Amino acid sequence: MNKIRIALTKGRVEKEAVKLFDKMKWDISVFADRGRKLIIEIPNTNVEVILAKAPDVITYVEHGVCDLGITGKDMIMEYGGDYFEVADLGFGRCRFALAGEIGSDFYKGHNIKTVASKYTNVTRNYFETKGMDTDIVKIEGSVELAPLLGLADGIIDIVETGATLIENGLEVKEYIADISTRLIVNPVSMKMKKSEIDEIINLMS
Ligand code: PRP
Repeated sequence: MNKIRIALTKGRVEKEAVKLFDKMKWDISVFADRGRKLIIEIPNTNVEVILAKAPDVITYVEHGVCDLGITGKDMIMEYGGDYFEVADLGFGRCRFALAGEIGSDFYKGHNIKTVASKYTNVTRNYFETKGMDTDIVKIEGSVELAPLLGLADGIIDIVETGATLIENGLEVKEYIADISTRLIVNPVSMKMKKSEIDEIINLMS
């Protein structure tokens, strides 16, 4: 039996994925006391889980050092890449949205708008589709600050409950895309380890 390596996004996605592994009857006790360990073997299986930051999950799957990856659709939209997206795992549901200050009209006036986002490619693609020139400013986190500080006319970010926007005097102007956690596969692994990978895809779906 071939060994299967799964790259898993640390943090929120990891927690939900471990619940899924439990439903798949994998022994998840190894996650409870994983400490700072980054490579976890699932007992009595041929599966090894690698814990990584979201963009790195994609890198490891693209390079074929991991066969499968579990990451958000937001990362897939932002980074693209050479892999197959084979399943929607159903958790981590949220949306990409354009947001701005409550009551403001994002499109008002003829000036070029400044948009802040952690997701600069998603932002560029969105406004390119609209045929609109924009200045994009990359912000690493808490992007809600950018319009509040007068740095941007709007932001493109993930909205889950909407609480962060409301508590900071912002609102959704436009919804852009639905997001959830997806399973991705390296194309070579898909061929070379087909039976093992098909079995995991079926179990996860
Ligand atoms: C995300 C996102 C928003 C918030 C939305 O941030 O960037 O700030 O969650 O969630 P809500 O609609 O339920 O309020 P995250 O917590 O991942 O941290 P970050 O700002 O460091 O990216």
